Amino acid sequence: MATDIKISLDRLTQFVSKKDIAALAPLMEKYNESLHKGDGKGNDFLGWVNLPSSIKGSDIADIEECAKKLRYMSEVVVVIGIGGSYLGAKAVMEALKPTFSAFDSKKGNPMVLFAGHNISEDYMSELFEFIKERSFSVIVISKSGTTTEPAIAFRLLRDELESRYGRQEAASRIVAVTDSSKGALRTLCDKEGYKSYVIPDNVGGRFSVLTPVGLLPLAVAGIDIAKLVRGAAAMEKATAAGVAFDDNIAMQYAAARYALYEKLGKKVELLVSFEPKLQYFAEWWKQLYGESEGKEGKGLMPHSVVFTTDLHSMGQYIQEGERLMFETMISVGKPQSKVTIKSEKENLDGLNFLAGKRLSEVNRMAELGTMLAHIDGGVPVITVDIDEINAETIGKLIYMFEKAVGISGYAIGVNPFDQPGVEAYKKNMFALLNKPGYEEEGEKLKKRITVK
Ligand code: PA5
Repeated sequence: MATDIKISLDRLTQFVSKKDIAALAPLMEKYNESLHKGDGKGNDFLGWVNLPSSIKGSDIADIEECAKKLRYMSEVVVVIGIGGSYLGAKAVMEALKPTFSAFDSKKGNPMVLFAGHNISEDYMSELFEFIKERSFSVIVISKSGTTTEPAIAFRLLRDELESRYGRQEAASRIVAVTDSSKGALRTLCDKEGYKSYVIPDNVGGRFSVLTPVGLLPLAVAGIDIAKLVRGAAAMEKATAAGVAFDDNIAMQYAAARYALYEKLGKKVELLVSFEPKLQYFAEWWKQLYGESEGKEGKGLMPHSVVFTTDLHSMGQYIQEGERLMFETMISVGKPQSKVTIKSEKENLDGLNFLAGKRLSEVNRMAELGTMLAHIDGGVPVITVDIDEINAETIGKLIYMFEKAVGISGYAIGVNPFDQPGVEAYKKNMFALLNKPGYEEEGEKLKKRITVK
């Protein structure tokens, strides 16, 4: 099953041979099959595997209808959520919306802002200041319905909505995305009559961007969610269990990073792009890979850079620091628009050699030059070639990376679908905040640190 997204492993050959990667095919095929059969670890969280193809036109239409209502009643829509209930929507929005559209807000085309992904007092008070004179609505997203950060943000913003619009109108300005029956958010929805969408039980947070978790905020932002889902569904087909290794880019990517980790001892994978629009896509990817693989003392550490910006910060380390890393470079074939460098009579900046060239040509040469320099510096490079950044390719990339992390997590022997380590900070935070039931732990912690 061919796909227009290509994984190129050609530039890896001086680090791992094609033969070594091809030898991993049976292993990758086995784990891909496990994801489809549901006989591996965390098999109660495999709802994402066939999710794109199961989304119906009527699901999309319902989400778009709800988004339309929110768009017409608001200059700002605040999306509350953290982790998987935040990053997917943020990533796709940043990738697909015009970069400076964020500075424009009006009813019918509202600004989408985020909250509940931090506990910063300044962030929240500046958000309140910003929405003071603007009409607003809220989408609150929490699968568990109990996560502290979004719960606090929702308490504050709900209060603002209710005091500004009254309880009844406030309720019409709130849409929740949460569990079908469990959690405090579900209880609130039922009590206050908020419109709500359900996150399927068998889809974990970081795999939920193609559920209403991502699709509703994206529809509000004016993204073509049908096209996004179509892209993901095409990749679902192209990476299915029966698709052999040579045609299956999720397996190829999983095999390459497994070889670099296991055989070459690489510890860090850098997701690289020369398009700033993909900066948050990399944040989404970092959560997907970090939470899925980083456990039991194992897993590549996912990190990201946007070039050429970060060539002037992290570039030195990547070129000459500890040889810990390899790069996965998302290479974008063509830009959406055209900017050409002009010739100047005086040529004081010495740039006339670029006259007539488009910025994308300069960016491309920077990309190729960087790739060769990093390879020469001992940094293997995997390339993921996409034709252009659009809703369909982003949908494809989302599914490809999800599929690959499932395979790859199984290959290193972990359960890619849980995140037990996230609880440690929560326990300490609750203890330090004197949450009932945590008193004893709180006393112990307060002996170890000074609470200021
Ligand atoms: O991937 C995950 O499951 C987590 O990162 C969650 O998305 C994150 O902790 C937010 O959880 P919730 O949606 O329950 O508020």
